[in-house]
Amino acid sequence: MTSSGSPSVLGVESSCDETGFGLVSDGVLLGQGLASSAAQHADFGGVVPEIAARAHLEAVVPTLRIAVEDAGIQLSDISHVAVTSGPGLATAVHVGLAAAKSIAWSLGKPLYGVHHLAGHAAADTLEHGPLPERSIVLIVSGGHTSVLAVGDLVRDPIEHLGDTLDDAAGEAFDKVSRLLGLGYPGGPAISRAALEGDPTTFSFPRAMLRPKDAPFTFSFSGLKTAVARTVETLERAGEPVPVADIAASFEQAVVDVLVKKALRAVKERNLDTLIIVGGVAANARLRAVAQEKCAAAGIELRIPPPALCTDNGAMIAAVGDLLVRSGAAPSGLRIAADPSAVLHGAQLPLLR
Ligand code: KG4
Ligand code: ZN
Repeated sequence: MTSSGSPSVLGVESSCDETGFGLVSDGVLLGQGLASSAAQHADFGGVVPEIAARAHLEAVVPTLRIAVEDAGIQLSDISHVAVTSGPGLATAVHVGLAAAKSIAWSLGKPLYGVHHLAGHAAADTLEHGPLPERSIVLIVSGGHTSVLAVGDLVRDPIEHLGDTLDDAAGEAFDKVSRLLGLGYPGGPAISRAALEGDPTTFSFPRAMLRPKDAPFTFSFSGLKTAVARTVETLERAGEPVPVADIAASFEQAVVDVLVKKALRAVKERNLDTLIIVGGVAANARLRAVAQEKCAAAGIELRIPPPALCTDNGAMIAAVGDLLVRSGAAPSGLRIAADPSAVLHGAQLPLLR
């Protein structure tokens, strides 16, 4: 508990290559600690699950210590523990789950297993306050791309209007970055290269935008292939590969589709708020284009600050804090990892 008697919820995140701990009380971020093993995966062009798991194991105690110190509290002040129990890399989720169970058990506090993607949505509440009664949430991360209709994040079922048929938006950034030789993680690398490029140089495909296509469904694998073909053709002809122009044109193609479909969902549902979350929401071009289009359409746009878009422990603490305040029953120490959990609700059910 804080000195005012409010709960202090610890959030634990380890689903991919970030080890995160955050402390949230009554919707306010008290402090956090974050460690990343991204550099250790760079040579492999993507996250290596065993390396990520070992890095989490090394990082949990020091990162927890940083979070507790940052929040200016004692471990014994923690009133509840929330942890990503899925989806994510199984080996990586297990480490955070084991850590969270140890903390909850040793402190004698309740444990909540939460859905990682609900955490991404909850991150926005730390910056912009409670979600409106109903909103459209566009989740764009390394593993997921979804348009969701969301009410009360922890009480109401979450409705999927559309998902990706193949690659997630972040995955497309990572794959295209690899083929342009820009390294991992791809999003920030493409974004940096794109700053020097002209987004109109190459007209890459914008998939699933024809009238007969599912209105909120995405596909990014054709775009990735189109970039690969362009690079191959240039190389075969002995011509230089204009990396910055390709990066900018690719980024623009992804952003165009994301923004178009998200706005379409807001209008179709007669809503007035769009929330964009997940690692790709840190992308400057996406933020700028969404801002411009939402302003023109009279739609309120909410995007967490970039550091709260990519994985962190604060977002998991934010879900835990919402669950606690809504009176949800804890998951208990039996909660198991569910690496491929689909997002139906903020709290993950116990597996049978
Ligand atoms: O949400 P996140 O941190 O982890 C998952 O839940 O997957 O998202 C990671 C993804 C990666 O694919 C990364 O390349 C992408 O987010 N990303 C970006 C940017 N920063 C991270 N994509 C585009 N632009 C960025 N600035
Ligand atoms: Zn994530």
